[in-house]
Amino acid sequence: MFSVLDKAVLQLDRALQTLVPHAAKAMRASPANEHQEAQYTDAERKHAIGLMRINHTGEVCAQALYAGQASTAKLDAVREKMEHAAEEEIDHLVWCEKRLYDLGSRPSILNPLFYGASFSIGAGAGLISDKLSLGFVAATEDQVCTHLEKHMSALPVQDVKSKAVLTQMHIDEARHKQAALDSGGYVFPKPVMAMMTQISKVMTISTYRI
Ligand SMILES: [Fe+2]
Ligand SMILES: [Fe+2]
Repeated sequence: MFSVLDKAVLQLDRALQTLVPHAAKAMRASPANEHQEAQYTDAERKHAIGLMRINHTGEVCAQALYAGQASTAKLDAVREKMEHAAEEEIDHLVWCEKRLYDLGSRPSILNPLFYGASFSIGAGAGLISDKLSLGFVAATEDQVCTHLEKHMSALPVQDVKSKAVLTQMHIDEARHKQAALDSGGYVFPKPVMAMMTQISKVMTISTYRI
């Protein structure tokens, strides 16, 4: 059994891995590696960077949500299943980060704030019940899928590298959503989903720029 201090150290390590540039290591090679870098106008590059910065912050939020959830999950089976999804989120995080640097930019400076907020939601929901926190995971993954679909068509057409990353992420996120539902997560009612969409707008509008 881990002591409270051990747990705190593990959580801090995980937060730093997520928030410190180049700290996390992907298990799978980036799908972007299979494509050549394209040429962009300044406006196209700026737009691709903005979109990939949103996606990167989305992955920061996913890490935090899973970390928060794991810290309060009651059933070990739930925790283990979600750990696997969280590992895939690290791949997404690293792939998006690499795209940002390759495009000549960097992750959002707001990421620590979003990490803290998402961790609290995950941990808070987990304290109430596993079904609720799994419901949050499913709802979040659902929203991420919607963003990814929008972004895949909004990217400059020649940015096939970013598109390859988003395509694989979309496959993984849809699977994560299903895993959360299969593990007993609530399907959130429409008004709750609409509220989450509003909250995610705050994130997308701010991180597109900074
Ligand atoms: Fe992800
Ligand atoms: Fe996911």
